[in-house]
Amino acid sequence: MDFREFIHSQKIIALSPMDGVTDCSYRQTQCFVKKPDVIFTEFVSAEGISRGGVRLYDQLLYGNNERYIVGQIFGKDPESFYKAAVILCHLGFDGIDINMGCPAKTVTQHGSGAALIEKPEVASQIINSTRQGIEDYCSGKTTVTDIGIKQSSLDVIERNCLFSEYTGTYKDYQKPTLSVKTRVGVTHNVVPVWIPHLLSHNLDFLSLHGRTLKQGYSGLADWEAIKLAASFAKEAGTLIWGNGDVTTLPQAYEYIDKYNVDGILIGRSSMGNPWVFTNTEPSLKDKFSLMCYHADQFTRIFPHRRLDPLRRHFLLYASGHPRAKQLREKIVHVNTIAELYALEEDFLTC
Ligand SMILES: Cc1cc2nc3c(=O)[nH]c(=O)nc-3n(C[C@H](O)[C@H](O)[C@H](O)COP(=O)(O)O)c2cc1C
Repeated sequence: MDFREFIHSQKIIALSPMDGVTDCSYRQTQCFVKKPDVIFTEFVSAEGISRGGVRLYDQLLYGNNERYIVGQIFGKDPESFYKAAVILCHLGFDGIDINMGCPAKTVTQHGSGAALIEKPEVASQIINSTRQGIEDYCSGKTTVTDIGIKQSSLDVIERNCLFSEYTGTYKDYQKPTLSVKTRVGVTHNVVPVWIPHLLSHNLDFLSLHGRTLKQGYSGLADWEAIKLAASFAKEAGTLIWGNGDVTTLPQAYEYIDKYNVDGILIGRSSMGNPWVFTNTEPSLKDKFSLMCYHADQFTRIFPHRRLDPLRRHFLLYASGHPRAKQLREKIVHVNTIAELYALEEDFLTC
């Protein structure tokens, strides 16, 4: 089914984008347990990919089994979004999402992410420019060789297409969805002005995290603010997905009804616990096997990378273990897959 049709056909439970977390190995591990209805990539800089930062393309690697897959981009320069949209179309993404919610200083100090909430005109230019990139790619007017990017970037784009087993061209490419993920405000809730502004752009869907930029990840997500945004979205005829602090699948469905949203994004609760998208409780053996699977996927997809960034995930797989403290002491020293596998006895003994 076409992605656009799909999101209208049912309530959506999606994996939220998490920079430095939801890379391809994470998402492959998630899909091994249970594929969410929709998956977002971690965000990638629109300026970075359009200027040819080849290493950034690792963040856009995805497996064909992850569909429906939405690529997320951030930045502040509308022209880069045009180019990034052409690139993401060429890579075969089902949807293109614009980040207007990231609170990290490194992102907001340049006017990107959640800083765009206070710059509605720039936000409009970014959305329009992204849409133009999609239109021009899908009508055959522009392709990746027309947007002035270096040969080394074109080579890595083709590598990504091969990895994703995506060989389509604009001729058989379904136009991807265009969406925005944002927060309820910068210092306080500005839903009544910000959300109608976004909704005036005829987006396919909008994802709303119920916190302000200032809150970062502290406090609680304001689901009443999400409910208000949902009423605006219904009026505008745009789908809206709520996000923030959802920790179980039954809670996700309860919130869909209670706050009148068309879907839910789950982020942090999936870390070390991909079973959050199921109604099942994993055994220690399940957790250990999956931790090894995650590490195997990581070394398959990123063969030149060290395992260090995975330790935070290993610790999360071990959280709640009766001997978590002893395991943690060992996990923080794991450098190789063999060392990880050697923890089996420790992990399976309570
Ligand atoms: C480590 C981390 C990285 C994140 N990176 C992104 C990102 O790249 N793009 C984005 O839109 N949101 C990002 N977020 C926000 C999440 O997608 C989500 O909105 C937030 O964590 C609230 O949902 P949750 O309570 O289900 O985790 C990130 C969150 C965390 C914790």
